[in-house]
Amino acid sequence: MPIITTIDDLKRLHKRRAPKMFYDYAESGSWTEQTFRENTSDFEQIRLRQRVAVDMSDRSTKAQMIGQDVAMPVALAPVGLTGMQCADGEIKAAKAAEKFGVPFTLSTMSICSIEDVAEHTKEPFWFQLYVMQDEEFVDNIIARAKNAGCSALVLTLDLQILGQRHKDLKNGLTAPPKLTIPTMINLATKWQWGLGMLQTKRRSFGNIVGHAKGVGDTSSLASWTAEQFDLRLDWDKIAKLKEKWGGKLILKGILDPDDAKKAVEIGADAIIVSNHGGRQLDGALSAIRMLPQIVRAVGDQIEIHMDSGIRSGQDVLKALALGARGVYIGRAYIYGLGAMGEKGVSAALEVIHKELDVTMALCGRRDVQGLDRDVLLVPKDFEGQWD
Ligand code: GLV
Repeated sequence: MPIITTIDDLKRLHKRRAPKMFYDYAESGSWTEQTFRENTSDFEQIRLRQRVAVDMSDRSTKAQMIGQDVAMPVALAPVGLTGMQCADGEIKAAKAAEKFGVPFTLSTMSICSIEDVAEHTKEPFWFQLYVMQDEEFVDNIIARAKNAGCSALVLTLDLQILGQRHKDLKNGLTAPPKLTIPTMINLATKWQWGLGMLQTKRRSFGNIVGHAKGVGDTSSLASWTAEQFDLRLDWDKIAKLKEKWGGKLILKGILDPDDAKKAVEIGADAIIVSNHGGRQLDGALSAIRMLPQIVRAVGDQIEIHMDSGIRSGQDVLKALALGARGVYIGRAYIYGLGAMGEKGVSAALEVIHKELDVTMALCGRRDVQGLDRDVLLVPKDFEGQWD
């Protein structure tokens, strides 16, 4: 069993063990990948204030996200094709999240279905929705999420059309993979992955194959988005979806204070400041750089979460100190899953928790809920001056 001390350890193993097309899918941004890179490099610009001779006993990372108790304010983000990184990936990740005491968010574009995940877990999970043109499909999937006991709907607003990720096109990304010669050569070196896949029946988009009509290639994320996603999604439709769902609603993909204000107007429970991990609008500013402005605009009116770029407990602390009430990890747990299945997701959560806890203590704080900007050293021009 390898000794895991960092998220990078998991990333290296993920790269070795998962088929190239799925590792590349996770590890891509759109176009030049500038936003993808800056999501992480901007975190490095923020430094921490070392404080000493402060009682650091009885520390707590416990918090609440949308009123739910969490062992630390770090949820697992919705990630498409998770069950292709490792057989039954969504079930494994959801189980690891449940054991740790953090929320798991299931993607619409998952391999294991809503019902599958519900059957294998006890705690309610969150469901992420992409709005499709087919209203009947949308009504039906909302009803399925309700029946499965999902305790929040995470509505993604920044992907009605897919930002181009070059590697996915070059690799011919599909779920399941099409057995071309380069793919077969690559799969031949991934025996653990292959064994897992042979033992499961979950190898296509479980939430939608058989539920959505009129898609040419049901194995292709690009076809689903191009043929099914609703280009007409607007704030009126979001308000209607909110009514239909009737439960806690989190709006994902807010990167501008004006959109954050709209989210407040329609009465969402939380927003996720996010640029989709740099996978959509390349050239957008990093989520951590946009966070302070959005907190200033609406922080007293709505709960603010953030994702895009979190790879360590120190990143979590920085985002919380800048005003986020909770954050999400995507790639950080996917590396763990691709590396070691459920154990790898648990390892990712443990690494991040330990980093968060020790960093908090060395900053002279004991309670994650009391973190504020005072623990940080933020460059004066961090937010930048943009016209
Ligand atoms: C969404 O499903 C993505 O690939 O970013």
